Amino acid sequence: MKILVIGSGGREHALVWKLRQSPRVRKIYCAPGNAGIGELAELVPLVPDAIEGLLRFAITKKIDLTVVGPEVSLSLGIVDQFNAHGLRIFGPVQQAAQLEVSKAFAKQLMQEQGVPTAAFATFTDPTAARNYVDQIGAPIVVKADGLAAGKGVLICHTLQEAHQAIDDIMRAHAFGTAGDRVVIEEFLEGEEASFLAFTDGTTVLPLASAQDHKRIFDNDQGPNTGGMGAYSPAPVVTLALVDRIVNEIMLPTIQGLKRRGITYKGILYAGLMIRDASVKVIEFNARFGDPECQPLMVRLQSDLVEVIDATIDERLAGVSLTWNPDPAICVVLTAGGYPGHYETGQPIAGLDTLRQWQSGMVFHAGTAKSDGQIVTKGGRVLGVTATGKDVSAAIATAYHAVAKISWPGMHYRRDIGQRAIGRSDTSE
Ligand code: AMP
Ligand code: GLY
Repeated sequence: MKILVIGSGGREHALVWKLRQSPRVRKIYCAPGNAGIGELAELVPLVPDAIEGLLRFAITKKIDLTVVGPEVSLSLGIVDQFNAHGLRIFGPVQQAAQLEVSKAFAKQLMQEQGVPTAAFATFTDPTAARNYVDQIGAPIVVKADGLAAGKGVLICHTLQEAHQAIDDIMRAHAFGTAGDRVVIEEFLEGEEASFLAFTDGTTVLPLASAQDHKRIFDNDQGPNTGGMGAYSPAPVVTLALVDRIVNEIMLPTIQGLKRRGITYKGILYAGLMIRDASVKVIEFNARFGDPECQPLMVRLQSDLVEVIDATIDERLAGVSLTWNPDPAICVVLTAGGYPGHYETGQPIAGLDTLRQWQSGMVFHAGTAKSDGQIVTKGGRVLGVTATGKDVSAAIATAYHAVAKISWPGMHYRRDIGQRAIGRSDTSE
C-alpha cells in the first residue's frame, strides 16, 4: 500500500520509520517531511495546512492511507475532506478535534461527563476575567482558548501576572483570535504524564505510558517548549492507574462526544497531572505527542498499519498491542535560543557516525538538506532515542549518542529520564 504521512517533526520521522516496518507498506510519501524522513520516504513540498493540495495529491497518487501528524491539519478538517472523497485517513474529524482546538470545549465536555480536571471558568470579556482572578487568587493559570503552538498557557504566580496575562491574551491579542476567549483555571500540583490511546469512538486501546519534559532547562526551569525529551514507560502511571484513566477519563470523554453525535477516531492524548491517588486532565490533544511518539514507536512491536486500520474500521475491540518491555528515552536537541529566537542553516556534525547505530534512532525534526549537507531548520532539531535494559542504561546509551552530534549553539537537557530512575528505585 501507499501511505502519505503529514508533518515534519520527530513525531513524523518516528511514524514513517515505524510504518516502513509493516510488510504491507510499499511506498511512503511525507509532506513536507525533513532530511531524515527523506531517507525513508519521498518528500512532497506541501505544508500541513494546505488541505486542498494534500487532497489533490492523495487523489492523484491513489494514496491508500493518510496519517496526520500535527493538529493544524485536523483543526482545518482534513479528515472530513478526505472522507468526503472516499480516502482513508487516520485522525479525528474536525468536530472531534475540538477537544484540542478549543480548551473551553474540552473543559465543558469534561464537566458534563464528570471527568476530573482543574476547576475553571471561561471568559470573553477581559474585565470579567480580571474580576474572577481577583476573587480566586494566585497561583492561577490563564489559557488562550484556541491553538497557540503550545505557548498559550500562562502560569501566574501573582495576581499582577494574571492581570498581565489576561491583557496580553485578550487585549493585545498575543495569540491572535486564539485568545478571544480564555479559560482560567486552578493551578494543579503533581507529576505530569502523557496518556495516549487509540480509539475508534467506542473502544479505548491505551499505548504504553510516557512522560514529556516541557521546560527548556534542567530541573524543569525556564519557559515551556514543545517538549525537550520523553521516556516510556512512565513509572508514575501504575497499572492500577491505567484502568482508572481509561474508565474515568478516556471512555467518558469519547462517550460525551458520541452523545453529541461525534465519533472520535484516532489518537486521543490526555495530558495528566498525577498526585497520589488524584489524576486530573490538564488538556487533551487529538494526535500523537511529540517527542512522546519517538520512544513509543521505538517500543511498539505491533504492526502500526494494522492498528490504524482497525481504528478506522471501528474494530479496536479485537486488538491488543505488544511492547518491547525495555524502556526507551528520547533526548531532544534544539537550536540555541529556542523557544525564543534561534538561527537556522547550521551544519550538523556527527550524524554519519550514528548511521549504523544499533541501540536507537536519531529522529529528525527541524532539519533540511543543503548542498548535500544536513543543516538545522527549526527550533527542535533532532530526537536521539534509545532503548536499554533499564532506564539508566537507556539514558546512558542515548547521551552517548548525543555526545557525537554537534552544531554551533546546540542545546539539550541533561536530565531526561532522571525522574523515572528515582521512581523505579523507590518502587523496588
Ligand atoms: P497545556 O498546553 O494545556 O498542556 O499546558 C502546558 C503546560 O502548562 C502543561 O504541560 C503544564 O505543565 C502547565 N499547566 C497547564 N495547566 C495547568 C494547571 N491547571 N496547573 C498547573 N500547570 C498547568
Ligand atoms: N509533547 C507535548 C505535545 O505533543 O503536545
